[in-house]
Amino acid sequence: MSLSAIGSSIGESVTLKLNEIAATLRARGEPVIHLGGGEPKSKPPIEALVAAAGLLNTGEIRYTPADGVPELKRAIVGYMERFYDFAPRPENVMASGGAKQAILCALQAILNPDDEVIYPAPYWVSYPEMARLCGARGVAVYASDGSFCPRIQDIERAVSPRTRAVVINSPNNPSGAMYSEEFIADVVGFCEKRQLWLIMDDIYQRLIFDGRKPTNAWKYARDKGEDSKLIIVNGVSKQYAMTGFRIGWAVGNRRVIEAMTNIQSHQTSGPSVLLQMAAAAALNGDQSCVESLRTTLENNRNVLVSRLKCLEGIRVHPPDGTFYCFADFRAYEKDSAKLARFLLEKALVVTVPGVEFGMDGYLRISFCGTIKDITDGVERIRWALDPSSPKELYVGGGRKLVRDWT
Ligand SMILES: Cc1ncc(COP(=O)(O)O)c(C=O)c1O
Repeated sequence: MSLSAIGSSIGESVTLKLNEIAATLRARGEPVIHLGGGEPKSKPPIEALVAAAGLLNTGEIRYTPADGVPELKRAIVGYMERFYDFAPRPENVMASGGAKQAILCALQAILNPDDEVIYPAPYWVSYPEMARLCGARGVAVYASDGSFCPRIQDIERAVSPRTRAVVINSPNNPSGAMYSEEFIADVVGFCEKRQLWLIMDDIYQRLIFDGRKPTNAWKYARDKGEDSKLIIVNGVSKQYAMTGFRIGWAVGNRRVIEAMTNIQSHQTSGPSVLLQMAAAAALNGDQSCVESLRTTLENNRNVLVSRLKCLEGIRVHPPDGTFYCFADFRAYEKDSAKLARFLLEKALVVTVPGVEFGMDGYLRISFCGTIKDITDGVERIRWALDPSSPKELYVGGGRKLVRDWT
């Protein structure tokens, strides 16, 4: 079959595929523990549900402006005022089908074929594929000190004449690391100096721990006018546990937002009005759900890190935010895809191989599930990896896992 170069080069989303595998195994009655997930388990805010249901009952579910309904754009402006200390104008805002679509539209609006977009490693799995969707090339930047946080010199070294944009995600999926204020200030200044676009993927912005403050790249921008090349992306998926509502947004200069809106208008015509109204209600409503999710995640993080630290040879850097821990399993196995497959087959635990995020030998372990999932999941990993563990492990419901390897 003859597919296009882009059509044949894009891989499936590994994380979505793992959700599918876990669901299939569960449907077969297998006691799978899913530590590969990327969504909080709490309920969306009640205001969001009521807003969507109320509109649904009217039957008036129509097209909206491609950049979003005024109610949602106003709510996004309010959010920006609260968390970024500035109020963009409505023409500087585009609502979209998740932060994912906002980032892709931004890249499509700014990249030409063969351009390069750079991002720190480990990186979110979609960045390289999104670059490819634009006919461009993703370039991962590794910290020269081996940590999860490159310095500005590492970014500088990755820039070529083809570089058009930098994407920064802090706190980061998969490492959970938050880049320092100094690094964010340096990147903003560097991109301004070199006339590069800077996309801040702030999707986990408020899910941060240990008293940290949300990152605000805008405060370091010197160019705050219509020539600014800073694009801020955020959404309701993670902080409001509204992944299935598929609402995100981008804030940028008027011309880029107009170009992104034109692109979106031909892709999807914009997100569903029902979900836009739900997102607006979440942004305008009682915010205690975000704090409650944040504290739950902080507690889960503490439990996961303390359990992982008991596994001999595993190196763990406590995440500053998100709901992911990126642990170094190289002492056991350098091929992370092989290790993740082994843990799924033998211990029925889903993890995501680090190679998908640009760092082999690591596994991404999520702590957005229950404490029981976290503790039982790590116990199963320990059992599977430790050759001195008992031959059988009882996993509830009369089921046991049997060690049939050496
Ligand atoms: C770093 C990062 N950016 C963006 C997204 C997309 O979020 P949304 O559900 O709003 O499309 C995700 C989702 O996993 C993510 O991890």
